[in-house]
Formats: sequence, C-alpha cells, structure tokens
Amino acid sequence: MIGKGDLALISRKGSRWLGLMIGLLVIVGADYRSKAGQDLSIRTLRADPTSPQLVTLGEQVYARECASCHGVNLEGQPNWRLAKPDGRLPAPPHDDSGHTWHHDDQTLFALTKFGVAKFTGMDIESDMPAYEGKLTDREIVAVLAFIKSRWSVRTRRRQEQINARTGAQ
Ligand code: HEC
Repeated sequence: MIGKGDLALISRKGSRWLGLMIGLLVIVGADYRSKAGQDLSIRTLRADPTSPQLVTLGEQVYARECASCHGVNLEGQPNWRLAKPDGRLPAPPHDDSGHTWHHDDQTLFALTKFGVAKFTGMDIESDMPAYEGKLTDREIVAVLAFIKSRWSVRTRRRQEQINARTGAQ
C-alpha cells in the first residue's frame, strides 16, 4: 500500500530527478555551444605567454605548422592586406603589426581549430587551414601563447583588455 507519506517521498524524488534532468540539459547545451565555435577548452587551458612550457611547445608547433604562411618571424606574407589574384587573402602577420591581437583568446583558438569558414559560419574561401584533428587543444593554446609572447608589453596589455571585456582569456 502506498500511503500519503510515500507519495510525498515519491514526489520529492521526482523533483530531484527533474533537477538532474535540467542539470543535464544545461550541460548538453554547453556542449552544443562549444561545438558552435565557443570551444570551452580555452577556458580550462589558458594561452599564458609567461608559461615557459607552453611557449616552448608553441614555438615548435609554430615553426612546423604556421611559419610557412605567417612567416618565420611572424611577419606574414607580403602585401597581406591585398587580395591575391585568386581572390583569397594572404596570411597576415601575427606580430604587433597585424590584427591577431584585436581578437580575444577564445576567438583565436576557435579560428585556429575550426578555420575561417566554420568559425564565421560564412562561405569564405581561405588558405587558412583548420587544425581540428591535426593539433591537440593544448598545442593550439601553446601556439597562441607563443604568438602572444612575441608581442610588445603594450600590445599584450591591450589584448588582455579585450579578453577582459569579452570574458575570454
Ligand atoms: C597555408 C597557409 C597558412 C598556414 C599554414 C596557417 N595559416 Fe593562419 N591564416 C592564413 C591566411 C591566408 C589567413 C587569413 C584568413 C582569411 O581571411 O582568409 C590566416 C589567418 C589566421 C588567423 C586570423 C588572424 C586575424 O588577425 O584575423 C589566425 C589566428 C591564424 N591564421 C592562426 C594560424 C596558426 C596558429 C597557424 C599554425 C598552427 C596558422 N594560422 C597556419 C594562412 C595560413
């Protein structure tokens, strides 16, 4: 026999389940957002330009994967502001003279991981490869830490302000 007390217990259990379900939905929602480009790994792995381990790893990754286009000294390709005959843009510099530092860390991470088209959601033809599956999240964060370590103090501070404004770091 189910008494009144039991019913109360069942409904209390029921609301606990409901709470769990809502919790799960929030997690699934967060996961969905992460796939949409707002990858969460950048929140757990900070692209810290003062970390010697990250910067050393990032320097190796940069030399291997990025220098051929963005330049050994992060100088970018010549005339990088002008579209090439095929309509695509040359690789911009990653040093102070470029606009990499105009973006917060999360944007840089997503751009590198997913590529320009997937990140913007637009049908943009770009020579910039997507590194998802080619580099681990840690390697991507490391390469960003290396790039940031090459900025002047002033540029670093300005990009930190952009991070603070967007809540991404
Ligand atoms: C085959 C050439 C090529 C390689 C290799 C390459 N990139 Fe790029 N990258 C580009 C081009 C071209 C753009 C300009 C994107 C556009 O608008 O088409 C770009 C843009 C970017 C941007 C956006 C910069 C901004 O100011 O908007 C980031 C960040 C970036 N690359 C990071 C990297 C990293 C990190 C690597 C190495 C892991 C890398 N790229 C390797 C060609 C390359």
